[in-house]
Amino acid sequence: MDTLAELARRVSLCTACPLHSGRVNAVPGEGPDDAEVLFIGEGPGYHEDRQGRPFVGPAGNFLEDLLQSIGMTREQVYIANMVKCRPPNNRDPAPDEIAACSKYLDRQIELLNPLLIVTLGRFSTARFLPGQSISRVRGRLRSVNGRHIFPIMHPAAGLRRQEMRAAIEEDFAKLPGLLDVLRMQAAPPSAAGRIQDAQSAYPTEPAPSLQPAFQDTPAPAAGETPATPADTNPPPPDEPPPGQQRLF
Ligand code: URA
Ligand code: SF4
Repeated sequence: MDTLAELARRVSLCTACPLHSGRVNAVPGEGPDDAEVLFIGEGPGYHEDRQGRPFVGPAGNFLEDLLQSIGMTREQVYIANMVKCRPPNNRDPAPDEIAACSKYLDRQIELLNPLLIVTLGRFSTARFLPGQSISRVRGRLRSVNGRHIFPIMHPAAGLRRQEMRAAIEEDFAKLPGLLDVLRMQAAPPSAAGRIQDAQSAYPTEPAPSLQPAFQDTPAPAAGETPATPADTNPPPPDEPPPGQQRLF
């Protein structure tokens, strides 16, 4: 399972738990390989099982509206579920089914390495914050084993109850600001300065006065050729610096 595509193929053939026998299609998840945000739901419902795609029924329509309300689209994010096959009659996934399926989600998280994981509902929230009630932890950023987790109530709950809908909308509205902060944290401390310097420096070679911009470049490891100023020359402003994910 070295790529998300390979993982999806494995999921479509998986028979590791009883849910495989009732599925029309497995629903591995979808989104760009470099998505900044990973949404994790519970499991496929009727429409998802029919189409083999996550969140394409009523809850999915609501999720798309929520994304639109913060200026995002579903094409920009990765959407996955705790279990990849539909539980019969949309019952809750059983603990042994979640356990059998967890290797796929674990690998999706590793491969994506998302800036932020948004857990939708109590099952995906419990994966990171076991024993904690969603109504208490929702709408607050947590760091769990080095991952940023932001729990939100499940969109399907928002379709059933107006007060849940309001809570979900309130939490969603926090996402853009949260992402800005996380992006700044993830960027090297001097990145902003480098981009400014790059704007004034291009297309000419960096002048000696720009040297302080390179001070934060890590020292070369033993055996590595020391980087010359030309190597560390920052890329043009519309390209992300090496090692950084593409932003929206
Ligand atoms: N609900 C979920 O939790 N996941 C889906 O993919 C669709 C509805
Ligand atoms: Fe395999 Fe997960 Fe589907 Fe169970 S739910 S059969 S573990 S892919």
